[in-house]
Amino acid sequence: MGFSLIGPSLTLRPPQPGDAEALLALASDPEVTRWFSWGPYTDIEQPREYIERCAWQRERGEQLDLLIIDREKGPAGITGLSELSYRDRRCIVGTWLGADFWGTQVNRESKAMIAYLGFELLGMNRIGSYSNPENERSTSALEAVGYAREGVLHQWHRHGERYLDVNLFGMLRDDWRASEQAGIEISSEGTPPSAFLQGL
Ligand SMILES: CC(C)(COP(=O)(O)OP(=O)(O)OC[C@H]1O[C@@H](n2cnc3c(N)ncnc32)[C@H](O)[C@@H]1OP(=O)(O)O)[C@@H](O)C(=O)NCCC(=O)NCCS
Repeated sequence: MGFSLIGPSLTLRPPQPGDAEALLALASDPEVTRWFSWGPYTDIEQPREYIERCAWQRERGEQLDLLIIDREKGPAGITGLSELSYRDRRCIVGTWLGADFWGTQVNRESKAMIAYLGFELLGMNRIGSYSNPENERSTSALEAVGYAREGVLHQWHRHGERYLDVNLFGMLRDDWRASEQAGIEISSEGTPPSAFLQGL
């Protein structure tokens, strides 16, 4: 059985080949991918390659990207865990949403779901995140769901020939337990891919 997370209005599951059209539509908007090293998508082969890469990264326990599906409106974007350190029980969350979903509850609920996955199902102790200091929307969105801004990492990301600073954020397991995010009712179906269950 496939793995999925179920929240009050969203379902998160690994993207499948049949999701390529929806991802193309969501990420062909230059505003959505403005802060990323990739995109906007211009060709169906790009989301197809991404979905293949996700499957491969899942098998190796490297990155667990999930399609965010609004059960009324359909696919909304991607959220996922990367940079997993099983020894230190930490990882990084990254999210992008189609512009129609900005300013809705999707970011809040999907962050609660990914926190449940990381802390409750994968035994993580810390979930970090990054934002471009110029990306005020993403910075505020992380703070709004309880991530603490911890500092700036200089020249952390390479986009083409440019090195970019990032804000570093963190949420610790104990902070999550005490936060409103932990009060959002989340359940799961199936088990997370086995490569992510190391050390449990
Ligand atoms: C980042 C993203 C997932 C956040 O989701 P969202 O639905 O837009 O976020 P929210 O609306 O919940 O929160 C945005 C916050 O920024 C504030 N905001 C919006 N525009 C802003 C601006 N130009 N300057 C400062 N704050 C701004 C909003 O008021 C809100 O704060 P509040 O909750 O305190 O009111 C979404 O915008 C997105 O997908 N962006 C493109 C991809 C991206 O940048 N991903 C993040 C990479 S680190």
